[in-house]
Amino acid sequence: MQGCAEAYGDAFTIRLIGAPPLVFFSQPAAIKEIFTGDHETLRAGRGNEILRPVFGPNSVLLLDGARHRRERKLLMPPFHGERMRLYGGIMREIVDRSIDDWPVEHVFPIHKHMQQITLDIILRTVFGVDEGEMLSRLRVLLVEFLRLVGSSPLLLIRRLQVNLGPFTAWKRIGELGREINRLLYDEIARRKTADLEERTDIMAMLVAARDEDGQPMTDDEIRDEMITMLVAGHETTATSLSWAVHRLLQNPDVLATAQAEVASVIGNGSQGSEHMAEQIAELSYLDAVIKETARLDPILPIVTRYLETPMRIGDCDLPAGCVVSPCIYLTHRRSDVWPEPEAFKPERFVDRRVDPYTFFPFGGGLRHCLGAAFATYEMKIVLARMLLRVVLRPDPSYTVRVVRRSITFAPSGGLPVIRTASDLQEHAGVV
Ligand code: HEM
Repeated sequence: MQGCAEAYGDAFTIRLIGAPPLVFFSQPAAIKEIFTGDHETLRAGRGNEILRPVFGPNSVLLLDGARHRRERKLLMPPFHGERMRLYGGIMREIVDRSIDDWPVEHVFPIHKHMQQITLDIILRTVFGVDEGEMLSRLRVLLVEFLRLVGSSPLLLIRRLQVNLGPFTAWKRIGELGREINRLLYDEIARRKTADLEERTDIMAMLVAARDEDGQPMTDDEIRDEMITMLVAGHETTATSLSWAVHRLLQNPDVLATAQAEVASVIGNGSQGSEHMAEQIAELSYLDAVIKETARLDPILPIVTRYLETPMRIGDCDLPAGCVVSPCIYLTHRRSDVWPEPEAFKPERFVDRRVDPYTFFPFGGGLRHCLGAAFATYEMKIVLARMLLRVVLRPDPSYTVRVVRRSITFAPSGGLPVIRTASDLQEHAGVV
């Protein structure tokens, strides 16, 4: 992407065999045109077509127009406000349990733990139960399913999704998909007979939800949305957390400032969950660390919109049938917007309003990530607990590279780190 931008400027086209031309943009004015443009012309659902085999045809990610608006409205409540904050206690419990298991004075890949934390958080919030046979089985199936789907970018290409016999990945993916579906449909049926008023989990809310015409979601819709949330809400957040840990360990001054903020806001305050939402809201420096990480290490480098009709964007006349891409990676590195773009400086985000067309790790416009507030809240809780409870140091032999993990960009090698032996004693007062 950087090579193309240097060679061709702000807008350029990538042509891949078997896919529509992909036109990259990184100029804030063009990004604004795309995010605020007519949604009948700029179709995000059609731009995400590649995800259909995993999420299903009813996923909010794949819909456009009126059906997309209906689905988004039905899904929104658990991801905002009071409802979302209710999940803070679960998030803290899960991260604390994970930290208890991190080895001491051994190199270990922290990404694996971040994945477990974010998967457990989304499973617990979607299903509302701690353990049990269904959840353990679903966890095992999902991990294998995502590992296989993410193992090769070629598997996302529709024409290659064929079952060529007993040992092919696509056959196994099909088997796993069927078993995951069976568990989800069983659970949907069980929820329909449960007392939904009593429950705060996302699934119960979807079963109880009614659209403007008073219609409930169908079982297929609920299935597709649950898979969407489990998948979209898990690896994305884990990878963003791993990048934040990497940046903190590479920048000791930033780490010290973040640690001091967490100690002063949470360390000396109440450890109960009743004040957690206010405490998390007070962590403005940690919030800036998360944003600066998302600026430099966006886990999704692009978002896409399929052009249904011809359109002029910036000074480019584009035909129907191409895909336009606000490029997160390139926009976040523009030197005319971000002085010293490669430097990691959380201060850029402290007490500053962010322009949504120069900084958009969660995409933009009507299609802005549905889980953005949830993911940010979760990341702040995970990092705050980590900063309070443990002292980590980088593996001295490690040099980071960006690698693809499913559809995200992740730090290589699972980000090896070492937990310092003295951390618990040093922080004993605040654990
Ligand atoms: C740090 C973590 C995350 C990042 C960086 C991220 C990023 C994104 C991006 C870039 C998009 C595309 C937006 C666009 O096309 O303009 C998106 C869409 C979406 N994300 Fe996230 N996401 C994260 C976490 C989550 C979580 C936790 C959930 C839910 C539990 C979630 C659910 C969704 C959904 C449902 C959409 C589709 C929205 C629509 O099409 O209307 N994401 N996300």
